[in-house]
Amino acid sequence: MKRNTRAREGEDRLRAVAEALPDLLFVLDEDGTYIDVVSSSTTLLYAEAHRLVGQRMHDVLPRESADLFLRTVRETLKSQKSRILEYSLQVPAGRRFFEGRTAPLRTKRGDKRRVVWISRDITERKGLEDRLRAQVAKTSRAYRELKRTQEQLVRSEKFALIGMLIAGVAHELNNPLNVMYGNLKLLAEGASDPDPRRGRFIADAVIAAERARNVMEEFRTFARDVSDGEFVDLHECLEEALSGLRGGLAPGIRVVIERGRIPKVRCIAHQMRQVFSNLLRNAAEAIDGDGSIGVKTRAGRGRVIVDVSDTGRGISPDFLKRLFEPFQTTKPVGQGMGLGLAVSAMILHRHGGAVAYRRRKGGGSVFRISLPAGSTTEAT
Ligand SMILES: Nc1ncnc2c1ncn2[C@@H]1O[C@H](COP(=O)(O)OP(=O)(O)OP(=O)(O)O)[C@@H](O)[C@H]1O
Ligand SMILES: [Mg+2]
Repeated sequence: MKRNTRAREGEDRLRAVAEALPDLLFVLDEDGTYIDVVSSSTTLLYAEAHRLVGQRMHDVLPRESADLFLRTVRETLKSQKSRILEYSLQVPAGRRFFEGRTAPLRTKRGDKRRVVWISRDITERKGLEDRLRAQVAKTSRAYRELKRTQEQLVRSEKFALIGMLIAGVAHELNNPLNVMYGNLKLLAEGASDPDPRRGRFIADAVIAAERARNVMEEFRTFARDVSDGEFVDLHECLEEALSGLRGGLAPGIRVVIERGRIPKVRCIAHQMRQVFSNLLRNAAEAIDGDGSIGVKTRAGRGRVIVDVSDTGRGISPDFLKRLFEPFQTTKPVGQGMGLGLAVSAMILHRHGGAVAYRRRKGGGSVFRISLPAGSTTEAT
């Protein structure tokens, strides 16, 4: 008798403690029946405590929640270990988030096994966490945006500077080159030199000077305003660039062209030709032995896209950071200036376009050019 009274006192004391706590306390049996419910709050319980006791969770709660809770109860009993879960429930106080903790209870032989379940309202914390997460995402988005703008600015300035530099140097070299070229041509036409080797030297020099003049002419136009350009069919530029390349193409290299329907683009045609020929030449140079170069054109969202791909050796991640920088080359001294991509990027930039690199699936590279579509006129 005395023992019973002491046990009752202990139980009452525990109950008083539980009621004083902000948490909800449930005792559930293995079938999910509420044996006991203690809460200091009426608005956090799904239904009033006296209406829950004796009911099965599946008779009171939404199906999904009841399933989850019963599963947790059974896992607790099976493992004889405490479980922690987060869940949300629509209660009189609104949609609240809870953290539930379970522990197996020792029961008398023959009784159904039981679990004690304590739930804590974590809605405030959850809200804070969500807001914090959103803030972090927003901040890192803003940071990325800032970085991109900064890089674009640096690139624009760099391009402007390279353009000015190249155009300036070309302008300065133009006059002496013209004098050399003119005089060489006079020399070549004039004399029947007694020494035949001299004639050949002069003829070679004329060819070299002509090439130099052409390069200079192209460079001089770097300062030209793109709005002076005409509406150009990029397929023609591509064809011209390709025919310039074909002579020097190794026999094992195939070129596959997929022409989309693209509108004309306002551009300085020979600069665009130069871009294509730089990319095509790089593609050809990246292929050892057999391989293929693909060119694919298409239009989309007011832009014209040209993909130049190759099955070549690809580009190392280490080099990628410097890919479009001037004077960056992996070729031996004297073989490449490392200017092809920098010049191409600059030309495209001045045309309101861009070039980007990506790895080709299955090995090799893809350079994607995008340019603003200049008009609605369809080219074929
Ligand atoms: N399609 C490609 N496949 C593999 N590597 C490439 C490709 N295109 C460019 N590269 C790498 O990028 C480097 C820079 O190319 P870029 O055209 O700017 O200069 P270059 O070809 O070295 O010299 P230049 O074009 O001035 O003669 C190349 O040396 C090469 O290593
Ligand atoms: Mg190159």
